[in-house]
Amino acid sequence: MSSTKKGFFITLEGGEGAGKSTQQMRMVEWLKRHGKTVVEAREPGGTHVSEQIRQLLLDTHNDGLGATTELLLMFAARSQLLQQVIRPALASGDVVVCDRFTDASYAYQGGGRQLGADAVETLAELVHHDIQADLTLLFDMPVELGMSRVAGRGAADRIEVESVAFFQRVRDAYLERAAKDPLRFRVIDANRDQDQVWEQVQSILEAGLGL
Ligand code: TMP
Repeated sequence: MSSTKKGFFITLEGGEGAGKSTQQMRMVEWLKRHGKTVVEAREPGGTHVSEQIRQLLLDTHNDGLGATTELLLMFAARSQLLQQVIRPALASGDVVVCDRFTDASYAYQGGGRQLGADAVETLAELVHHDIQADLTLLFDMPVELGMSRVAGRGAADRIEVESVAFFQRVRDAYLERAAKDPLRFRVIDANRDQDQVWEQVQSILEAGLGL
């Protein structure tokens, strides 16, 4: 009998201020209530090394950081998270819920920084050619609205200080990726009451996990 277990990999994506964190908390609690073993992660971050890379990436003092350096650091953090957290959890048959993954690199570095999809794809192939999310929830909302929500949170990080045009490219790149892969992506209108968003998320999870 094969001992190969296969977990389920869920990623949450979206622009700034789309309310991912709140929905992630509800998702994890709900999945646990349904008897799932859940491993949570966030990107960039989620391991000791990856959290240090996150600090580098988000520190406003590092304003000279080049776009390619930024992309490489995203994948360095990702590689470590895969090695220490995501791969072992999926091998154990767990549900992994990750706040952002490689689609964010396509959106922010490929789109926002205008490095293009090919550069991201090359690194994705190198770092995790064998792993893709099973389900990706894209929390979508108009750019200005997301930015105004973030503005109310306090000091902006190195990426949050970017322009409306940057975040518009991020949003466009996300929507383009979602349109190309409708089986994996679910686009959620995040410009609604949190409970309404959660109702939709819950029914997506029920269908996706057969619960
Ligand atoms: P967070 O604030 O949602 O935790 O995400 C951190 C920031 O990093 C956010 O502005 C999006 C950005 N990011 C990228 O630019 N590329 C990536 O690949 C990832 C994972 C995040």
